[in-house]
Amino acid sequence: MIYLDHAATTPLDPQVREAMLPWLDDAVGYGNPASDHALGRRAWAAVEHARAQVAALVGAMPAEIIWTSGATESNNLAIKGALEFRGHAGAHLVTSRIEHKSVVDTCRHLEARGVRVTWLVPEANGTIGVEQVLAAVRPETVLVSLMWVNNETGAINPIHELAPHLRERGVLLHVDAVQAAGKLPIDLDTTPIDLLSLSAHKLHGPKGIGALFVRKRPRARLAPQIHGGGHEQGMRSGTLATHQIVGMGCACALAAQRLATDAPHLAALREQLWQRLRVLPGVYRNGDPAHSAPHILNLSFEGVEGESLRARLGDLAISSGSACSSATREPSYVLRALGRDDELAGASLRFSVGRTTTSEDIDRAAARVLAEVGALRALSPRWGT
Ligand SMILES: Cc1ncc(COP(=O)(O)O)c(C=O)c1O
Repeated sequence: MIYLDHAATTPLDPQVREAMLPWLDDAVGYGNPASDHALGRRAWAAVEHARAQVAALVGAMPAEIIWTSGATESNNLAIKGALEFRGHAGAHLVTSRIEHKSVVDTCRHLEARGVRVTWLVPEANGTIGVEQVLAAVRPETVLVSLMWVNNETGAINPIHELAPHLRERGVLLHVDAVQAAGKLPIDLDTTPIDLLSLSAHKLHGPKGIGALFVRKRPRARLAPQIHGGGHEQGMRSGTLATHQIVGMGCACALAAQRLATDAPHLAALREQLWQRLRVLPGVYRNGDPAHSAPHILNLSFEGVEGESLRARLGDLAISSGSACSSATREPSYVLRALGRDDELAGASLRFSVGRTTTSEDIDRAAARVLAEVGALRALSPRWGT
């Protein structure tokens, strides 16, 4: 099996696993980080060390990092929390049609409760332009929620450029940075983003743990979505999962150390794959390589049916779109928003490379895709006529 689905999830780094294990151990690791005794304090120190590691990856202060169960929860907390704090009545929210489902469905939920939502459509290169966003902002706009990197196409939104304009207008900016962290430099010290979502399992950490950056100055205020013991500054109650948190901290520290080498390695592999596959007639690259994160290549293949192609490529771990929404088996809403018709959107594959992908993996995967697209086209009465 050749694993080319790193945008869906990444394998746990062995160093991350090593860092986590003591915290699953009965002898040292079981204290509740909220307990005021030696075992609890030891766990608390580990949690705080990890918080500093996550903060360092994105140029934040440790006190600005709130632990969650993953980016789905971070996105829910950021968007519902900001709107609920402000009050739904008369409030306006700006987002886009190419967000992850955890943003789209959260905004739809608010829309059904009276919040007015503007749904931006991407430009031809797959990104949401600054001018588009600013044109949508109104006096009653509370929040703009946009992803940094799209998980299907890899398109990079111009967040650095956008953020200062929104700060000037007093509008909160939430950024889903799940696919950007560890792939692009992020510095919240110099980029005025108010809320930023992260997930550990996209950067070689464990599943089930994420974080939300919540800016302290100026303070972004959120209504909590999970009530309980008042953990995480009252924003997210629940006993902290020490081993998961330590894993996320370690994964972020590794990502920070390796960013300068990982990003060019991933980009080189992605380009190698494109060069191998572009020799096929009727293959289209979705998104613009000049505005694209290094790990994702999304292609549409004319004259084949996407599901049949994936079924024939059972030895490759690849995705027909977002793993999180592929349960519905509809052609990708992101590719349709980019202007691809249903047929081409349905005949698309997302390849996403990772730290452990090799050049040989790429050559083998490309050969398999060339063979199977050719075989399916040979069977198709419509191809070549
Ligand atoms: C852009 C984006 N946002 C959010 C998520 C959800 O993250 P999690 O799996 O941590 O809930 C994903 C995962 O697929 C994603 O790619």
